[in-house]
Amino acid sequence: MQINSNDIRHKFLEFFKTKNHAIIPSASVVPENDPTVLFNTAGMQPLVPYLLGETHPLGKRLANYQKCIRTGDIDDVWDNTHLTFFEMLGNWSLGDYFKAESIAWSYEFLTSKDWLGIDPRKIAVTVFEWDKDAPKDEESAELWRAQGVTNISYLAKEDNWWGPAGLTGPCGPDTEIFYWVWKEEFPTVWSTVGNDDKNWMEIWNNVFMEYIKTAEWTFEKAAQQNVDTGMGLERITRTLTWTPSVYESDVFADIIAEIEKTLWVTYNDDTRKSIRIIADHSRTATMMLSDGIRPSNVDQGYILRRLIRRAVREGYKLGTSWAFMTPIIWKVIEKFEEIYESVKINKLEIITALEKEEKQFSSTLENWLKEFDKLMFGFKIAFERTGQIVDTISWDKAFKLYDTYGFPIEMTVELATEKGLKVDTDGFNDAFKKHQELSRAWAEQKFKWGLADDSEIVTALHSATHLMLAGLRKYLGEHVHQAGSNITAERLRFDFTNDGKVDAEILKKVEDFVNEAISKDILVDLKNMPKDEAKAAWVEGSFWEKYPDTVKVYTFADKEWNVYSKELCGWPHVERTGTIWKFKIQKEEASSSGVRRIKAVLEK
Ligand code: SER
Repeated sequence: MQINSNDIRHKFLEFFKTKNHAIIPSASVVPENDPTVLFNTAGMQPLVPYLLGETHPLGKRLANYQKCIRTGDIDDVWDNTHLTFFEMLGNWSLGDYFKAESIAWSYEFLTSKDWLGIDPRKIAVTVFEWDKDAPKDEESAELWRAQGVTNISYLAKEDNWWGPAGLTGPCGPDTEIFYWVWKEEFPTVWSTVGNDDKNWMEIWNNVFMEYIKTAEWTFEKAAQQNVDTGMGLERITRTLTWTPSVYESDVFADIIAEIEKTLWVTYNDDTRKSIRIIADHSRTATMMLSDGIRPSNVDQGYILRRLIRRAVREGYKLGTSWAFMTPIIWKVIEKFEEIYESVKINKLEIITALEKEEKQFSSTLENWLKEFDKLMFGFKIAFERTGQIVDTISWDKAFKLYDTYGFPIEMTVELATEKGLKVDTDGFNDAFKKHQELSRAWAEQKFKWGLADDSEIVTALHSATHLMLAGLRKYLGEHVHQAGSNITAERLRFDFTNDGKVDAEILKKVEDFVNEAISKDILVDLKNMPKDEAKAAWVEGSFWEKYPDTVKVYTFADKEWNVYSKELCGWPHVERTGTIWKFKIQKEEASSSGVRRIKAVLEK
């Protein structure tokens, strides 16, 4: 019988058990302690503290499958390989084995008849070429040759380096394993893996995490040498089953069958793109909902909202005018509930939240259609008055639909086509470009004010968070410590220990304290120091146990050496506080028992 995705999942875990790995559960799709990323994009992300040297309770050899979300690929979703949600099979060495074992085991798992049994002639690998930060990885190349793999390409950092997952953290050169995509043919001696060579498909990535990228963008040799590997379950399934894409493999086949049934459509050249988008987005939405994300206008919730809306719109394109998502989501739940506890226990909540969003968006869609009808009515009246037939929707009308009602241009074109009308899309595109240029000019202006992009705003908010904590400790007392922090490009959200509501008066004092430090344009000082020394010096910090032996201490002190804040931290900060905009506390509320929550923003 043909192998399927769950057989592969099972074999992977079994194989690594024979190599003394402990199997750990998948973490949530939302990272726990990393405000710089919205989602876990790789299996290593929840393991960062252990990759930095913390002791993992299950030992130094770990393996699992991890739910991952990568929305950078969202526009490619309907092609043969990209998905917004995928499962990553991974194995890790936390300062235990290194390149030799990692390469030998990957090769054994892929080619041995006891495991996946891939034909070795169809395997090629890439290794890190070299650059100013790290030497050529000849060691990995030699280890591959020792396994009998001779098809080896040396590629630069953009191809053969992985991480860090956020802005700083563990990373290193990697060796990637590729599989020849043609079932009946074999690669010739000169068909090596180049950049974007469509004859080869990357199936597994072994990262040798020897470096730590610092907040200063340098690469320091890590105290502990780790291995981090990742293999996309959907891709390897497709590869081993020779289906044209992941969508025809068992990962998607029954979801697609459910879509065909529910929407009364057939999966063919005309419907493929829409059906694939609905299938992919339904999976991702289900997994986000199962981990507690709800549709909203910010952060993870916004991405979820966009995915659901896009799926609904694709359904509309396929001619559906009824709510259709529920049976498809049930199918996804059915496939995942035995694999992920979060899906099993939250089934009903998933469905309820989804149905609510679908209903809401359907009425938006209806409003769009009404607007379109109004436009058509205007054309009719104009014809009756002037006798002139309008056969094109002008760019300004199309742009108004877009700008005022959020009407995507493809939608205008589709509706127009149904009525036998054309749309001045060239004019629309020009207007759209101008609109974008204006936004870009605005972004450049923002750069002149000292903040280049979202990551810099996050950094500024992060430095403001340090100052705010110091202010809270100054005016409320030393019992105040950080209990949690979450920063997006829009705002900071900070939880801290304190019983009871904080007076408005104190909040104002804290705000003034932060703004005073900002107005002094303080040069932020960073020092590495032994953890014990920092603790002994009463440096403020929470979660001490998560940090390595040497810690980073950030000090905000003015020229007279008035110390505003001195705190332990692993994330980057602004160089000077003058680049932070005006600090404003928006809300103070209860978070949980003995923990308060502040939301604050930066204003120009
Ligand atoms: N972190 C690496 C990747 O995502 C290996 O797991 O490819």
